[in-house]
Amino acid sequence: MKRYIVMVLGVQLLLGAGMVPGAPSSLVAFTPQIRSLIASGDPARGKDKAAGCVSCHGAQGIAENAAFPSLAGQRADYLYKQLRDYKDEKRVNPLMAAFAQPLNEEDMADIAAWYASQPLPPAKPADDDLGAATTLVRRGDGKRLIPACAACHAANGRGQAVAVPALAGQNAAHLGQTLQAYKRGTRANDVYSVMRNIARALSGEEIAQLAKYYESLGE
Ligand code: HEC
Ligand code: HEC
Repeated sequence: MKRYIVMVLGVQLLLGAGMVPGAPSSLVAFTPQIRSLIASGDPARGKDKAAGCVSCHGAQGIAENAAFPSLAGQRADYLYKQLRDYKDEKRVNPLMAAFAQPLNEEDMADIAAWYASQPLPPAKPADDDLGAATTLVRRGDGKRLIPACAACHAANGRGQAVAVPALAGQNAAHLGQTLQAYKRGTRANDVYSVMRNIARALSGEEIAQLAKYYESLGE
C-alpha cells in the first residue's frame, strides 16, 4: 500500500512537471500551415494584444527587472512555440500558463510578430574574463560531446530557423536560470532533449559565464 502511494505520488510529480516518460516535449509541429500562420502575424495588432505583458516584459519587450526575460528582437517562430508550450503545459510555469491560456492561434502569431519586430536589448559589456565561454560558443567541447552553441544559435547569437532562439542581449539572470532548469529537467519543452543534454554537461560556473557572454552581445 505504502509503495503504491509513493508510486502514485511519483507519477503525479512527473505529470505536474510535464515530464511523463515518452510524452512528446512539445505539441508544436512547424507544418506549412503553422509557418504561414506565424508569417501572417501583424505587429500592430500584436502590440495592442501585448498590453497585459508590459508590466513584466517592458513596453518594447525589454524587461526592466532581470527576473523577467526580454522578448524584443526574439524570433517569431520561437516566441510562438513558447506561448503554445506554456498553454499546452509543455513548458511548465503557472504564471506564464495563466497569460498564455486566453490567447488563440492568431493572438500568438500577432504577439510574436510584435516582439520580433523590435530591436534586441542593448549590449551590456561584461568585465569578467569570458574566455572559457567563448571557446564553448565557438568550438564546444568534443570530449564532453558539447556542440558549439554558435552552430545552432548562430555566430552573432541571433538564432536561426526553425525556432532556435536569439540569446544576444537576453538578461543573464534569465539565461542562467533557464539553463539550470534544462539541466535539472524542470524545463523539458526542447525537442529531442537538445538543450537538456547540453546543459547537463555544463558546470554551474560555465552556465554563469555563458549567460554573461550572451548578455554582452545585444544590439
Ligand atoms: C507577472 C509577470 C509576467 C507577465 C505579466 C507576463 N509574463 Fe511572460 N514571463 C514571465 C516570466 C517570469 C517568464 C519566465 C518563465 C519561465 O522560466 O518559463 C516569462 C516568459 C515568457 C516567454 C518565454 C521567453 C523565453 O525567452 O523563452 C514568453 C514568450 C512570454 N513570457 C510572453 C508573455 C506574453 C505574450 C505575455 C502577455 C500576454 C506575458 N508574457 C506576460 C513573466 C510574465
Ligand atoms: C543542436 C542545436 C543547439 C545547440 C548546439 C545549442 N542550442 Fe541552445 N537551444 C536550441 C533550441 C532548438 C532551443 C529552443 C528549445 C525550446 O523550444 O525550448 C534552445 C534554447 C536555448 C536557451 C533558452 C533561451 C530562452 O530564451 O529561454 C538557452 C539559454 C540556450 N539554448 C543556450 C545554449 C548554449 C549556452 C549553448 C552552447 C553551450 C547552446 N544553447 C547550444 C538549440 C541548440
